Amino acid sequence: MKGNIPLMQTVVELNDLQASRAALAEPVGLVPTMGFLHEGHLSLVRAAREQCASVVVSIFVNPTQFGPNEDLAAYPRDLPRDFALLEKEGVDLVWAPTPEVMYPAGYQTWVTVKELTGHLEGALRPGHFQGVTTVVAKLFNATRPHKAFFGQKDAQQVAVIRQMTRDLSYPIAIQVCPIVREADGLAMSSRNIYLNPQERKAAVVLFRSLTTASQLYEQGQREVAPIKAAMEEIFHQEPLARVQYISFADAQTLAEVTELDRPSLVSMAVYVGKTRLIDNQILG
Ligand code: PAJ
Repeated sequence: MKGNIPLMQTVVELNDLQASRAALAEPVGLVPTMGFLHEGHLSLVRAAREQCASVVVSIFVNPTQFGPNEDLAAYPRDLPRDFALLEKEGVDLVWAPTPEVMYPAGYQTWVTVKELTGHLEGALRPGHFQGVTTVVAKLFNATRPHKAFFGQKDAQQVAVIRQMTRDLSYPIAIQVCPIVREADGLAMSSRNIYLNPQERKAAVVLFRSLTTASQLYEQGQREVAPIKAAMEEIFHQEPLARVQYISFADAQTLAEVTELDRPSLVSMAVYVGKTRLIDNQILG
């Protein structure tokens, strides 16, 4: 105890997590993360702190959601810094399992959401969402939260986790928090650390293109083609950026649309140098 403020507990092993979880005041809020925390993550922690009696944060760079050519080895990690940030936010319990705790030798059980993962990030990153849903199911099972907090930054991840939560009958409310941005509009991401100073400046182009899309939408434009052309024109002016996709999709099903006659998700993946950045916005 520090005065009468209980210290944050940090655990690695599953049996320690379960013992600490059993002692928490309810309702319990869970914030799943891969660490290297920034203000986006902390906004989820603050929402959990406001809405729940206890807050659990998990930190685990989940190997099963990285493709063979992705950045698992390079993914930034700094547990001491993360623990210090979380302690300041009044978090009760941090679970930072090792890969062996999550996936012991002989591990062979997977959670797969089907149709929703066939679009967008799921189509380009085979196996990614199976890794995400499997680890999130394991986090839900181990921590038994009443609410779990996710960021709109990963829009498809939110849709996939909502679907999994419904389909597997988890008694957990999924809370989605808005995208937290840098002063110039760049969405915060642990991967922004990969950008060199020129790339960092160029990376604002994602937000600029989304701003253009919402301006055209506000002016009454409902056809996707001209909006997409205006966005592509913005990217053409930024030589450091290479668009992988710009998508306009039904916000519920994530199926592509050509007209914005329902709530729609504009989302994109863009390489800035070697760094792959994603961003999105809901229209309507
Ligand atoms: P990670 O990328 O660490 O993100 C953890 C949570 O923070 C996610 O819900 C993500 O959407 C949210 N987040 C990230 N950047 C944000 C921003 N700029 N504004 C608001 N929220 C933001 O997403 C994952 O980890 C993993 O896939 C995980 C769910 C932990 C499963 O391994």
